[in-house]
Amino acid sequence: MEHQFKLESEIILKDHLSTKWQAPSNIALVKYWGKYGMQLPANPSISFTLDSCHTATTINATRGNHGFSISYDGTPKPEFAPKIEAYFKRIADYCPWISQYHFEIDTHNTFPHSSGIASSASSMAAISVCMMDFESTLTGQEMDFHKASFLARLGSGSACRSLKGSAVVWGTHDEVEGSSQYYGVDTSDYLHSVFQDFQDTILLVDKGEKVVSSTVGHELMNGHAFAKARFSQAHENLSTLKKALQEGDLDTFIKITESEALTLHAMMMTSHPYFILMKPKTLSIIEEIWAFRKETGVPVCFTLDAGANVHMLYPHENKDAVQQLINNKLVEYCQNGHYICDQLGTGAKKC
Ligand code: PMV
Repeated sequence: MEHQFKLESEIILKDHLSTKWQAPSNIALVKYWGKYGMQLPANPSISFTLDSCHTATTINATRGNHGFSISYDGTPKPEFAPKIEAYFKRIADYCPWISQYHFEIDTHNTFPHSSGIASSASSMAAISVCMMDFESTLTGQEMDFHKASFLARLGSGSACRSLKGSAVVWGTHDEVEGSSQYYGVDTSDYLHSVFQDFQDTILLVDKGEKVVSSTVGHELMNGHAFAKARFSQAHENLSTLKKALQEGDLDTFIKITESEALTLHAMMMTSHPYFILMKPKTLSIIEEIWAFRKETGVPVCFTLDAGANVHMLYPHENKDAVQQLINNKLVEYCQNGHYICDQLGTGAKKC
């Protein structure tokens, strides 16, 4: 299966290559938590692709000895180098031409650097789509978004869901045609109109470093007492969610999305060693959302990634009502009153 991405076509090397792409962040509805082998998911996941939260990356490639430099807004960032170096090593088998080039990489995130929102998904997706842009120039073939997603996965698992489409499934699932362990597939066609302009407001509860990284969290699913049940539950939840997305069934969407977020954190709390990434303010926000939904009937729900920040998901038509809730109640729980308003996007774009 991985062989499908080994480069077979002939290439004509050029002295210089240059490109710039932006790739978005994504938020999982059914969560990926647990992996094996080379970044393969223990269960399938589905995410919404974001729009405003993205990384824009410029790469200039010059023919010569392989190497790279990495900067953020023009300022050298040697601390990013180990991750990029590991990435280049992992993709070398699939893109052998990279050994012929020196890459000058400059990147920029639209979301605050230390917001606690992981930039690894958008940044690995952005680099990967740039690499595939180069490969398509060298082979004269069309851009291969599945291979871009495959490369992004080797950089950071969930990054493979940040290439193409407003809703993306990663991991094989019986009811998702073409689904793969190796890359994300565009499932935007599942989305009933009510989901097509969905909003995601990210309440920044804690911008600090996470106490436990995702890498360690995934590892703790090996031998986890509830792992087997959790992985099969993710398959069921994806089936139920797929139907809800197709039918515009907001009640079921809310039930599955919130349950998935709490299950993710329950897995952390029941790992050995156990850990907690939510903060007291995360729970206060959840309670406020539940009270507001009960009182007003506005179909707003929450999800969490591996951190304390809360993503509020809701239809565009409820934007004003949710904004009032934020102004009146929720902003006080946000660190320095910070939150980010985002919405569904469509994937990576050439700049
Ligand atoms: O891609 P990673 O290794 O950072 O893991 C991401 C895990 C979650 O964000 C918690 C869930 C997901 O599916 O994105």
